[in-house]
Amino acid sequence: MAVFNHVSYDDHQEVVFCHDKASGLKAIIAVHNTNLGPAFGGCRMWHYQNDDDALNDVLRLSRGMTYKNALAGLHMGGGKSVIIADPKSTDREALFRAFGRFVHTLGGLYYSAEDVGVSTKDIMFAHQETPYVAGLEGKSGDPSPFTALGTYLGIKAANKHQNGTDNLAGLKISVQGVGHVGYHLCKYLHKEGAELIVTDIDQVALDRVANEFNALVVAPQDIYHQDVDIYSPCALGATINDTTLPLLKAKIIAGCANNQLAELRHGEQLKSMGILYAPDYVINAGGIINVSFENDYDAERSRRKVENIYQTLESIFQQADAQNRTTNAVADEMARAIIEAAR
Ligand SMILES: NC(=O)c1ccc[n+]([C@@H]2O[C@H](COP(=O)([O-])OP(=O)(O)OC[C@H]3O[C@@H](n4cnc5c(N)ncnc54)[C@H](O)[C@@H]3O)[C@@H](O)[C@H]2O)c1
Repeated sequence: MAVFNHVSYDDHQEVVFCHDKASGLKAIIAVHNTNLGPAFGGCRMWHYQNDDDALNDVLRLSRGMTYKNALAGLHMGGGKSVIIADPKSTDREALFRAFGRFVHTLGGLYYSAEDVGVSTKDIMFAHQETPYVAGLEGKSGDPSPFTALGTYLGIKAANKHQNGTDNLAGLKISVQGVGHVGYHLCKYLHKEGAELIVTDIDQVALDRVANEFNALVVAPQDIYHQDVDIYSPCALGATINDTTLPLLKAKIIAGCANNQLAELRHGEQLKSMGILYAPDYVINAGGIINVSFENDYDAERSRRKVENIYQTLESIFQQADAQNRTTNAVADEMARAIIEAAR
């Protein structure tokens, strides 16, 4: 398994492989860049098919965090961690305490929080071993509702740019993944009068949004075929790829999932198809913005900063049009300028 020659290796500062025999923990922590401050980024727990899939994920996710934190105006670098395990595994305390001990060895270079498959309760276990975790109960807490707020506002900004209005009433929106963020996003969209088509691999999560928000449920493989105005990826990454692109009917892609484009060239393809893409790390920054208030928590200040996502996206969309470039290329360039200036 190559690391320095890995296709997703991007001059990462530090990559740590963690194994604790007693708890069975197998994890990778990747610190991408700390020009702007200590690396912040959640911990994902997933049943990766092999170690290379996990490494690829953590390298891509940590790079995304550097760019996300820079464009959100935070004094935080980018990092991420993955735990290779079934996200439904039960002995969480031993696992997350072992994880916390590894985070602690980095001495504050990396701060962890929740991500897919990980809850605030898990992070509380890690906190028993290290102060270098955030999103704690009693402090900034679960970041997901703030990620959902930013994503909702980002969807509105995208609709304004594409269709001249940010009102979503009557629009058909497909949401792929109705977990922590997807659930709260559906709540906002339903409240505004959007028609929801949802999918998930978790029946309990699906039943909840179907009942509460009158959402139409489709099978996971059918989500790409839906005749919708907006497709909102809110599960895992790389769902915009060679297989799914020809199926999409939506003219806007705006969701909270990280690393939505399987490859950069898919951004070019979206542009040529006239599909407006809200760069993932810009639209989904609400959670990390909330986490940035951890030590002096003020929900109202956090909310106001999350609301800036609307204007940041507007500016990216306008620049992309003016320069005839993809929205993701414009966002990357803006982020890189901030990261370089901080060096
Ligand atoms: N939680 C946050 O604050 C936050 C912040 C930024 C980005 N994100 C990103 O948003 C996405 C969702 O995060 P979350 O915290 O809601 O995670 P979550 O684990 O709570 O929810 C993800 C949902 O996706 C479902 N899912 C997995 N594979 C699927 C598939 N093939 N088809 C349909 N559904 C599938 C899962 O069953 C789950 O319900 C992730 O990509 C995450 O990295 C989350």
